[in-house]
Amino acid sequence: MTERDPRNDALVDLLKNLRSRRRLANGAWCPAAGSGNEGIPSEPLPSSLATFTPPSEDVPEAIADALDKLTLIHPPKAPAAPGDELFGQEAPSVPATTRKSIPTQDTPRPRSREDRVAELELLARHARACRRCGLHAQRTQAVFGVGNPDAKLMFVGEGPGRDEDAQGEPFVGRAGLKLNSLIEKLGLKREDVYIGNVVKCRPPENRVPEADEQAACMPYLERQILLIRPRIIICLGLTAAQALLETKSTMALLRKTRHQLGEILVIATYHPAYVLRNPKAAWDVWADVKDVPDLLKS
Ligand code: URA
Repeated sequence: MTERDPRNDALVDLLKNLRSRRRLANGAWCPAAGSGNEGIPSEPLPSSLATFTPPSEDVPEAIADALDKLTLIHPPKAPAAPGDELFGQEAPSVPATTRKSIPTQDTPRPRSREDRVAELELLARHARACRRCGLHAQRTQAVFGVGNPDAKLMFVGEGPGRDEDAQGEPFVGRAGLKLNSLIEKLGLKREDVYIGNVVKCRPPENRVPEADEQAACMPYLERQILLIRPRIIICLGLTAAQALLETKSTMALLRKTRHQLGEILVIATYHPAYVLRNPKAAWDVWADVKDVPDLLKS
């Protein structure tokens, strides 16, 4: 009989503990295929989204794999940068993120375009069948994302509204028209960019998605970012900026500076719905993004 490695036992205990905590934090799980959850595609999920199953006690790889998945769902926080707390106010800069799946200079380039398109499609199918949080209950359909898989510019919004929930595409309502005109003003077409949201299912009454709903959905967005690998991400509104940059900072502060997620430049600006309510904010949005065409050329 082979001797059991006590380190494995310790890891298994840790995982079981983490798993039960996550179950409490996230509410519903994405159940395994074949568990009676009709509609879940049979293909395996990409590792960042695979359902966590407790590892068998004598397979260290399974433990490493499972830990990997857990850290993707709850990425470690960046250490507080000196000067973050300035007279009780956060300094207007956000330390570089530690999000594990965001590409850095050292990340190998994603595979061929064909493979990336196939994985995006697979992810979209999983999102459409996803039950990782309570938002699935009232959706008409999940709204995964749309656009050019080679986009250099990506927009991230908060979550689908009524029109998006009905049509299955992000930013197709009135806020979408505003976004389209901004894209045109940047000298681009909607087909040139990629558009996604923090949560893929419409929150009831368009409320801001809860932290656990955002956390449950974040691996989809992280994977979209990794596959598309844009040079610039424009966060539309506070929810997107806070979620992506892992900060509680205000829009006023987040707009004051440019941010970096790995190798990606991140710009925070007002949501088009805010601009609809406050037309003068269009000037602020333009001030935030007007150099994007030059940045994309450089
Ligand atoms: N608002 C968002 O944040 N996203 C959409 O897709 C539509 C409206």
